[in-house]
Amino acid sequence: MITVTVCVGSSCHIKGARNVIMQFNELLKANNLGDRVELKGSFCMERCGEGVNWQIDDQNYTSSTVDDAVAVFEEKVIQAALDGTH
Ligand code: FES
Repeated sequence: MITVTVCVGSSCHIKGARNVIMQFNELLKANNLGDRVELKGSFCMERCGEGVNWQIDDQNYTSSTVDDAVAVFEEKVIQAALDGTH
């Protein structure tokens, strides 16, 4: 199981966190990975800055755009889950 946590604190919310969660959710559904990947929201991760903060398991990511977040998610989560490398 991969756990993806997206910060929904106010700074990340303004930068598009809600949209990021929606896109991640769509990708999980489209790839039938809902039972392999857990998607969660979290309070402020205390690293507000240039973009939306999120994590894949314990690894931190900051994405300046929604597209940027989706690109990383596709590679590190969707592809890894489909390949069974995670
Ligand atoms: S609001 Fe997301 S890190 Fe602070």
